[in-house]
Amino acid sequence: MNEFEFLEEIAADDPVVLGHAERIISGIVDSLQGDFNTKVQSVMNSVFEDPEILKQFNGGIRYTTMVGSVVNRILDALPLGERRMSLLTIGTILPPDFVLPVMERIDSLAAEIKIQIGRIRKGRPYDVSAQGLLPPRKAAIGLFDEHYHFSDEPELEEKLSNNSVLVSGGMVGLDFFVRSMLKRAKKAGKTALFVYPDNSFDSYKKIVADHMEGGRAKHSEISTEPENGLHLSAKNVREFYEKNPENDQKVWCITPVGNPSGTKMTPDQLTEVCEAIVECDPEAIILLDSTYIRVLDPKDARALVARVIRNRTVMNRIIFLESFSKTHGLCSDRLAILFAENRSLIADEIQNQIMSSTAGTPLNTSTEILAISQLQPSEKQVFAQMYELWAHEREGLFNYFKQFPDLFDAQPHIKESELKDPMAPYLLMKPKEGVTAKQVALETWCFGVETAMGSGNYIRFAVGAISEPTYARYAEAEAV
Ligand SMILES: Cc1ncc(COP(=O)(O)O)c(C=O)c1O
Repeated sequence: MNEFEFLEEIAADDPVVLGHAERIISGIVDSLQGDFNTKVQSVMNSVFEDPEILKQFNGGIRYTTMVGSVVNRILDALPLGERRMSLLTIGTILPPDFVLPVMERIDSLAAEIKIQIGRIRKGRPYDVSAQGLLPPRKAAIGLFDEHYHFSDEPELEEKLSNNSVLVSGGMVGLDFFVRSMLKRAKKAGKTALFVYPDNSFDSYKKIVADHMEGGRAKHSEISTEPENGLHLSAKNVREFYEKNPENDQKVWCITPVGNPSGTKMTPDQLTEVCEAIVECDPEAIILLDSTYIRVLDPKDARALVARVIRNRTVMNRIIFLESFSKTHGLCSDRLAILFAENRSLIADEIQNQIMSSTAGTPLNTSTEILAISQLQPSEKQVFAQMYELWAHEREGLFNYFKQFPDLFDAQPHIKESELKDPMAPYLLMKPKEGVTAKQVALETWCFGVETAMGSGNYIRFAVGAISEPTYARYAEAEAV
């Protein structure tokens, strides 16, 4: 018997995609006419308008991903040429080949660490502290130092390690955080008011909305301005407090390097925003969703957070969320950490939430983080090369879109001078009035997700699943 027989099934096409593709092909194959482009366009139209897909996947990322996958399956099956639609929709990471051996090293180191831990502990007990093990928490904070320089501040690393919880991915961390804030507000006899800019991670908005269904809390979304890179400004903060003088427990969410914005805050902007929040409201709590800070060049990352970390009054109100999904291409492994200088932001509310819903953090989270921290410097370096590849793809994609002036014009939120810098793997483009993601896909073969912001409708493209140079050639062409 082959114990790995199941791998064949894993390698095969997704059965749901296949089912839709076969059904749609049989309905259109006899009527496909005209030249290559006309045929491809009618395939795309049939999939976009397919009533079953529209019914099952009601808009958003799941719909666009399914449409793109089915289109590609049909193009392969008919066959309609080599070219495939670029599915730049979900923020998944498919690392380039040169990263894969390092990922395998993480797996084998983690497996070995897990065996050793099982031996010393004589088994695998529950994580009763509901924080995950201390050594991986220390290792994570140590690992982040290259980008944050926590070690410049006395005793800060130790505090952050102690006041931390490992979680099964950032999304779970956000969920625990939101729930803990609701409990905190309730205990203080207050209403929790979740405040976030329109550039916040869509899932965070959904998590907040889900938890608010019982009406125990409020939320407020602030419209950001393209001139500010689609990020908050201190002016936004002050205006918010003028309009919302109630004594609610304000909970801010700030994503300094963005998904969906694809842009980053300037150091002044992040510092001034945090300072304005704490000045207007010393009791406010700030979730700093730092998922992409370590994708930046270490010196840019340090410049971004340095003054926030140095300001102890501000630090006292911040809880950081860090994840390994994007930085290490480990989306499926679910590794993230919440940490704060202020112990009350972690203990005991978040720990209680973790204990009651998942009985602690899985041991795998601890062992994998320990494994990542043990990589050699040359192995760590390959991830930086992956971020470079994304930067070239983003810049290339931006230049490629310039060939379509009927779809896109000026993009005031994007600083072209920064397009060469490593950044989150997203490019947010403002289409011309009335242009849809479908229209963009039909003309450019790039399929992104429509994203509504206060300043209008945008389309977000994700380049993390591009594992070999594709649009980068347009970046090079410009540079010549
Ligand atoms: C801004 C932001 N925060 C948090 C997350 C959650 O990351 P994960 O749950 O994969 O750790 C993501 C993932 O896309 C993100 O873009």
